[in-house]
Amino acid sequence: HWSAEEKQLITSVWGKVNVEECGAEALARLLIVYPWTQRFFDNFGNLSSPTAIIGNPKVRAHGKKVLSSFGEAVKNLDNIKNTYARLSELHCDKLHVDPENFRLLGDILIIVLASHFARDFTPACQFAWQKLVNVVAHALARKYH
Ligand code: HEM
Repeated sequence: HWSAEEKQLITSVWGKVNVEECGAEALARLLIVYPWTQRFFDNFGNLSSPTAIIGNPKVRAHGKKVLSSFGEAVKNLDNIKNTYARLSELHCDKLHVDPENFRLLGDILIIVLASHFARDFTPACQFAWQKLVNVVAHALARKYH
């Protein structure tokens, strides 16, 4: 569970996040660095190069949606499992997303945050965020268990 300091580190960074920018960047990086994740988004149009992915409006819009949803975890730190019950069903039962991909996206999100908030993203802050993305990945994968 969360110490008061961890909660503070998480919410203070989250308060500065531009969900549209960081969400688009995180999803684009996932699709570029781990190209097999593109197969889930075959209705998103042109994903043929890093430039195409970064400029793709559907990637931007979906990245924003995903990171907004991540914000629900920040708001409900003590109840993340229930917060993602419906989304776990969707990703596991309907979309068949391999849960390993939740970890990959979480790790990428940390890279994005570190690059945007370099000075504030201290090792203690990274630790708290790593813990958070792990809990979110676990909650989303729950319907596989
Ligand atoms: C849809 C959240 C990770 C694939 C969604 C939606 C949300 C969401 C909120 C929209 C659900 C709806 O329309 O009701 C998240 C969160 C993630 C995550 C919080 C992790 C932090 C992933 C990953 C993949 C993925 C890693 C695949 C590599 C999809 C797909 C859809 C979707 C294919 C449907 C897209 C569409 O056609 O509209 N996700 N997601 N998600 N997600 Fe995720």
